[in-house]
Amino acid sequence: MPQKIILDCDPGHDDAIALLLAHGNPEIELLAVTTVVGNQTLDKVTRNALSVARVAGITGVPFAAGCARPLVRTISVAPDIHGESGLDGPALPDPVISLDPRHAVDLIIETIMAHEPGTVTLVPTGGLTNIALAARREPRIVPRVKEVVLMGGGYHGGNWSATSEFNIIIDPEAAHIVFNESWPLTMVGLDLTHQALATPDVVERIRSLGTSPAQFVVELLEFFGGTYLEAQGFEHPPVHDPCAVARVIDPSVMTVRRAPLDVELSGALTLGMTVADFRAPAPDDCTTQVAVALDNEKFWNLIVDALERIGEPVA
Ligand code: BDR
Ligand code: CA
Repeated sequence: MPQKIILDCDPGHDDAIALLLAHGNPEIELLAVTTVVGNQTLDKVTRNALSVARVAGITGVPFAAGCARPLVRTISVAPDIHGESGLDGPALPDPVISLDPRHAVDLIIETIMAHEPGTVTLVPTGGLTNIALAARREPRIVPRVKEVVLMGGGYHGGNWSATSEFNIIIDPEAAHIVFNESWPLTMVGLDLTHQALATPDVVERIRSLGTSPAQFVVELLEFFGGTYLEAQGFEHPPVHDPCAVARVIDPSVMTVRRAPLDVELSGALTLGMTVADFRAPAPDDCTTQVAVALDNEKFWNLIVDALERIGEPVA
């Protein structure tokens, strides 16, 4: 039985690859795609999501736009990493599917309530505004969700401040809500995603597929590689968001460690820090875990396989 997921994202180069991976892997049933302000403004990331849907040949999946600003903080976007469009690099085709008229928060709630308890996994790869609001708006979703597998945070340190990662620091109050709900939660943070580097051999493997979605990914990685080098000094760019999808597809793609987690809301230097308590043993009621080590070969095989399966969609 494929894993049913809702992908809540802010495309974003790595979000786009996460969407292609989810669509191209038979272990995943994509129930909905929802967007949230993050890498760029809501209108831009939403258009990008629809554009990627065309590249991937995704039809029959609802796409809905969500929150245009964080719960408390002012908007902070990431043009230094993702460009002015949020998805600079490849040409972005005009969308062929239209946006679902529902607000993303409503779509998330309705989708979870319409499925059997324990069958829907939430995969957030942006700020947690939509997910937090959904939990507050309809608390009955919390025990129904199978698991939240999110890209965000890090127990070693940050990328947007010394201690804090982008998806968490842009809406720390939302992250605080999501991390403190009772659903099982796996934090696929920077500790893990900084192991998922798009090295030249990986880029060449993807290029050699010779399809237009593969070429789209190559152009994403080339742009992303340039900004990651310039803005953050990475020799090869870390491809964060697909790691969360990969974890749902094949849990053995990474090792995890159980630990209580919380999000710092009041530290003058540490706002948005994800604090993991590694004192052993983890309490029996601990429902959170962090991703620790990536099986790099398995991870990139999943990406290449998904692109192979997508092939050349009819535009
Ligand atoms: C996260 O921030 C965004 O820029 C990426 O899409 C990813 O979700 C990495 O910190
Ligand atoms: Ca993202």
